[in-house]
Amino acid sequence: MINIRDYHSIVVLTGAGISAESGVKTFRDDDGLWNGYKVEKVATPEAFDENPNLVNEFYNLRRQQLISSVKPNDAHIALAEFSHIYTGNFTLVTQNVDNLHEQGGSEHVLHMHGELLKARCVNTEQIFNIDSPIDPDTKCQCCQRSGTLRPHIVWFGEMPLYLEEIEKRLLECDLFIAIGTSGQVYPAAGFVQMASMTDATTVELNLKPSDVHSSFNHAYYGPATQIVREFFS
Ligand code: APR
Repeated sequence: MINIRDYHSIVVLTGAGISAESGVKTFRDDDGLWNGYKVEKVATPEAFDENPNLVNEFYNLRRQQLISSVKPNDAHIALAEFSHIYTGNFTLVTQNVDNLHEQGGSEHVLHMHGELLKARCVNTEQIFNIDSPIDPDTKCQCCQRSGTLRPHIVWFGEMPLYLEEIEKRLLECDLFIAIGTSGQVYPAAGFVQMASMTDATTVELNLKPSDVHSSFNHAYYGPATQIVREFFS
């Protein structure tokens, strides 16, 4: 196993796999979230325009699950503990829209695909914290009108968030670690290539090889709750 204290600037990218053992469904595993829905029916701007109630309901269900029954697991906690004792530059980027990294103690998490516990006004782009369902009659805090709130989630066809900062960090880092992501969705799946451009060491932590596993210098496989603490200790 490599010694991460030999590195001065670390970027970590997480995907649904780090939250799987907390009971949050992944997207593409056998019992994944997309199995119950067609992506284009619930995770695109067109779907929201066509049927805002169906789209809001999909996220209302996931938000309620997150609030009522989902807790961070030891992978989230181990990552947060390391980030607090590590003396180099540490950047945590997540594709996940849950707040389990924050609940586990991480700070400054870059949620590149948005956040379940935030809503956005389609008129003013203002972002609000929410912990209740978005219904057709939910009034927006800025417009005081219903029907103008949407989940603050990046849908297919929309631009992920924080890309400029992420790319800067990837080109500066000397260690890039991807945890629990299938490597099927870009631009996140291309981050390993970007980090490799400046000779960063790259590591994949996953249950099984991802679609981009061959791009990594090192790989350790097993459940996140077992391999993440071991890797970051
Ligand atoms: N420990 C570690 N890895 C795991 C575990 C586990 N217990 N369980 C599953 N995994 C891994 C799988 O092997 C897979 O590589 O997690 C990954 C889950 O892949 P996806 O379901 O595709 O999730 P993700 O890579 O985060 O998807 C990226 O796609 O649909 C969009 O916006 C959505 O952010 C999401 C993006």
